[in-house]
Amino acid sequence: MTEELNADINKSYEAAVVRSKKIEEDLLKNPKKYRVLTGDRPTGSLHIGHYFGSLQNRVRLANLGVPTMILIADYQVLTDHDAFDKISQNTKQLTLDYLAAGINPEKQDVIIYPHSYVPECNQLMIPFLTLVSNAELSRNPTVKEEIQSAGLTNVNAGMYTYPVHQACDILFCKGNIIPVGKDQLPHLEITRVIANRFNKKFCSDIGKEPIFPEPQALLSNAPMISGLDGNQKMSKSRGNAILLSATEDETAKLIKKAKTDQDRNITYDPVNRPEVANLLLLVSLCTRETPQEVAERIGDGGGGTLKNVLTEALNEKLRPLRRERIKLEADPEYIRKILLDGAKKAREIGIKTLEEVRERMNMKI
Ligand code: TRP
Repeated sequence: MTEELNADINKSYEAAVVRSKKIEEDLLKNPKKYRVLTGDRPTGSLHIGHYFGSLQNRVRLANLGVPTMILIADYQVLTDHDAFDKISQNTKQLTLDYLAAGINPEKQDVIIYPHSYVPECNQLMIPFLTLVSNAELSRNPTVKEEIQSAGLTNVNAGMYTYPVHQACDILFCKGNIIPVGKDQLPHLEITRVIANRFNKKFCSDIGKEPIFPEPQALLSNAPMISGLDGNQKMSKSRGNAILLSATEDETAKLIKKAKTDQDRNITYDPVNRPEVANLLLLVSLCTRETPQEVAERIGDGGGGTLKNVLTEALNEKLRPLRRERIKLEADPEYIRKILLDGAKKAREIGIKTLEEVRERMNMKI
């Protein structure tokens, strides 16, 4: 990446942090002013990095009463994965994780739906593609990085155009708050560009109100959670993750194998002792102590004690979620119903937006 581009990204990141803080304050006062749109690719079930990084926050927002759409991006998964045999299975596993963690579409203002079931959202893709240029699409730093890290030599056009698809996801339901990590900011930028260009091109006739909002990022202040190997992001494909669905025994075994270091005196030192620091951080997320307090508690008990403390804290923290997950898993019809009801509600929203879009584009007959 060029230095200039890097500086640009950092500048827009800082601006996004400031905006994000303001939104967070206002959310508590005016939850209904917003619509949150978030989503995941169905690549498997979620791990504790997802839980502490984003899922807990989604549950918090839903409990605050903020209208929330959670999409399962079953088309987007085709951009960097050849395998498609488990998409439906993964979609259901994701839904189980959401519900077990405390998302409840029957009690909260939340809609969970698979992308491919909402044609109205996907239909926006055609007009939106005419509002961006090839050059803009191929400049996207996150897309470039994904191509590189997946080692793709033959890049399909879906990869270059998925940020536009993401704009459709956000704008079809007029989502205005998008809880994301830093890597998704370029996609939000292109979404705002598309919204503005649409509003300017198609809504500037007298009497035609602009229809699309300018969605903003809600940056999470959750810390980055490394895998059990300590120095890279937790991820199922790297084999360094603890799944929410793991049993207590599986959790204990995984933690036993986690990397630590030789120093028996446990201290919180993320720079020099990243592996130990990550385990301390995980304990602190479960017990609400600070990582330093956890370290003091363990003192010179060494890595073994730290691992026992983490195993116990994590299993205790996740026990209600896991119990609920097992109960829900026994009722596949219920999971199906949640997804189909969600798709129906999402379609109703999409139909309305598409009506407005056709009217603005002079296509109504
Ligand atoms: N790109 C997101 C991911 O890989 C998933 C996603 C699809 C998304 N559409 C979105 C996220 C719209 C936020 C908004 O996890």
